[in-house]
Amino acid sequence: MSSGGSRTLTLDDVIGLERIGGTILGTSNQGNPFAYPADGSSQLNDFSKDCFDKFKALELEALVVVGGDGTLGIAHKFHRLGMPIVGVPKTIDNDIVGTNSTFGFDTAVSFATEAIDRLHTTAHAHSRVIVVEVMGRHAGWIALHAGVAGGADAILIPEVEFDLHRVAEVVSEREQRGRRSTIVVVAEGAILKGGSVIIQEEGTEGRLDRLGGIGATVAAGLEALTNKEARTVVLGHLQRGGVPTSFDRVLATRFGGKAFELIQRRVFGVMVANRPPNLVAVPLADVVGKTKHVPLDLDLMHTARGLGVSFGD
Ligand code: F6P
Repeated sequence: MSSGGSRTLTLDDVIGLERIGGTILGTSNQGNPFAYPADGSSQLNDFSKDCFDKFKALELEALVVVGGDGTLGIAHKFHRLGMPIVGVPKTIDNDIVGTNSTFGFDTAVSFATEAIDRLHTTAHAHSRVIVVEVMGRHAGWIALHAGVAGGADAILIPEVEFDLHRVAEVVSEREQRGRRSTIVVVAEGAILKGGSVIIQEEGTEGRLDRLGGIGATVAAGLEALTNKEARTVVLGHLQRGGVPTSFDRVLATRFGGKAFELIQRRVFGVMVANRPPNLVAVPLADVVGKTKHVPLDLDLMHTARGLGVSFGD
């Protein structure tokens, strides 16, 4: 069936998609139908009624909305208007409350870990400090997991304000122990003591601030404080591409199955969530507008500290 920019997807269309990244539907980080710029103007209009009318015209039974907090927030608004909606948490940032994991996170961590592994080699060869900037917005999950998995010497996350002098001490102490290179992993949302998050581009309605740049600040600061050569590597969108890990393939498939089950049971206004060993449904109202931060008492934080990793505090 094909009508007005839509068509029915068959099993043939979707089978095997779990093995490739991205989306066949397309996506956007700046499309809020409740406040969307009208053609060519800066004025924002509410197109939610048009969306709802389209939903009804297509005679859809329910809408499955896949994304991070912004997307799930829009889904929640549509559900309050009466649209039957099930949310699925998908973001590399792993910052959605109510679920242990979001799909995309494991793939991003796996890529960042491989990058750090490779950077050890060149950092050691040149006796350098290498600062690896990773994504994650205002949560440090990618930095923490990739940093631990990749054997970083310092991990700087938004949840722990860091002091550059403390990080410089890590470099110097390592030098004294004959370790001529240091790897620092910094989350894009990490905050230098007394400073604020570095923003590349201010957000607008329906579009979040674009973060990034803290890696260069850390590298320049460390070079000045330690007299060692430092380089920055920004992993950027490479973390969001490529082939998904088996964990993400299985998680996304399970989330899809759970969303299907909820629609059959007509349970709407909820998000599927991973609470091992089960998948559960949590109300969108309990989830949206919040950020799941790394808890400071997380076992991985303690263990990392025990292994000598500095958080710059
Ligand atoms: O939310 C996922 C994410 O990759 C963040 O980690 C990052 O800050 C942001 O999206 C980048 O967005 P964009 O692709 O719009 O620059």
